[in-house]
Amino acid sequence: MSLFVFPRWANKTRQLAGLFLSTAPIYVIGLVWYGASPKTTDVGYQPKQPVPYSHQLHAGQMGMDCRYCHNTVEKAAHAAVPPTATCMNCHSKVWTTSPKLAPVRDSYASGLPVEWIKVHDLPDYAYFNHSAHVTRGVGCVTCHDRVDQMEEVYQAQPLSMSWCLDCHRHPEPNLRPPSEVTNMTWKAPNGDPEAYGAKLRAENHINPPTDCSTCHR
Ligand code: HEC
Ligand code: HEC
Ligand code: HEC
Ligand code: HEC
Ligand code: HEC
Repeated sequence: MSLFVFPRWANKTRQLAGLFLSTAPIYVIGLVWYGASPKTTDVGYQPKQPVPYSHQLHAGQMGMDCRYCHNTVEKAAHAAVPPTATCMNCHSKVWTTSPKLAPVRDSYASGLPVEWIKVHDLPDYAYFNHSAHVTRGVGCVTCHDRVDQMEEVYQAQPLSMSWCLDCHRHPEPNLRPPSEVTNMTWKAPNGDPEAYGAKLRAENHINPPTDCSTCHR
């Protein structure tokens, strides 16, 4: 009956549990207050960036794949914003005197990163993971809309808890083959996203969890 054999850290755990229980009500009030504040529902948030970098030009007209720049998106929780060296692959050769690119050249010379301003930002108590979605066939466009048409990126979806849960409870219409996740114009080949998604869900054993500890850890 190993259940009754307390390991050495059991005492410590009880202390921690006590601490948690005594502070839990404050924590929950804090969360509810935070959740109701406007900061968390900022659809349309579009900060002014230090360089007028255009997704519409690079990802849209030039057709660059998202992963050329956001190269950790399939492997890690966070989708890396590219270092200056990625821009300089081209901009050491093209548009080398553009005033719009001056901060990029300065950054390359000084080694200090361009100070991009974060557009999407969940509260710290919520955990999100890109690779868990992208490798299972949820496309960028589902959560970020048509970035390839955006001159400047803005937050297109609420990123609220109910938004997350709506899909976790019923992911079918939002599933595609993982090879198509960066394709902005992909459509279910049979014209029926629900049925096509149900097929993918069964084949790939997709089961998004809904217990609290999935996103609050
Ligand atoms: C040439 C490099 C490059 C390519 C290609 C690219 N991006 Fe970006 N992306 C950036 C840079 C730089 C930023 C930070 C500046 C900004 O927000 O515009 C960024 C920001 C973003 C953001 C906002 C991040 C935040 O701060 O919350 C999203 C979402 C995004 N990109 C999605 C995409 C998608 C989807 C694609 C493919 C359709 C793509 N990107 C292609 C360079 C790129
Ligand atoms: C299931 C929804 C979802 C999908 C699919 C998704 N993203 Fe995101 N993305 C988010 C959320 C939520 C955040 C904010 C994360 C945070 O603040 O912790 C985010 C943030 C970002 C950021 C800012 C850096 C970061 O990780 O916080 C970039 C860049 C980005 N996404 C690019 C992409 C690209 C490129 C794809 C497709 C390959 C993609 N995303 C697919 C929901 C998604
Ligand atoms: C694959 C090559 C390539 C990469 C990588 C690239 N660019 Fe560009 N970029 C171009 C080209 C080509 C143009 C000019 C397009 C045109 O005028 O039609 C351009 C134009 C621009 C312009 C407009 C310049 C002006 O004066 O109008 C800005 C700003 C810019 N890029 C920023 C960036 C940033 C920031 C990065 C890195 C996140 C980046 N680019 C990465 C090829 C690239
Ligand atoms: C459009 C659909 C969709 C949206 C929106 C979405 N998810 Fe998911 N989520 C999924 C799918 C599909 C999986 C993969 C399930 C699997 O592998 O069986 C997943 C998996 C996850 C996982 C990994 C779970 C694990 O342990 O394997 C986390 C964490 C997660 N989601 C958090 C979030 C958060 C936080 C949000 C909102 C900010 C969110 N998700 C929004 C569809 C979605
Ligand atoms: C799929 C991911 C996911 C799951 C599962 C989840 N949450 Fe959340 N939760 C979030 C996100 C994301 C936020 C932040 C929402 C925002 O910024 O508006 C959040 C916010 C909250 C808040 C702050 C108030 C609010 O509603 O915005 C509370 C309290 C909370 N969650 C409790 C829970 C409890 C209890 C459970 C289990 C029954 C749970 N969550 C399950 C993603 C999730």
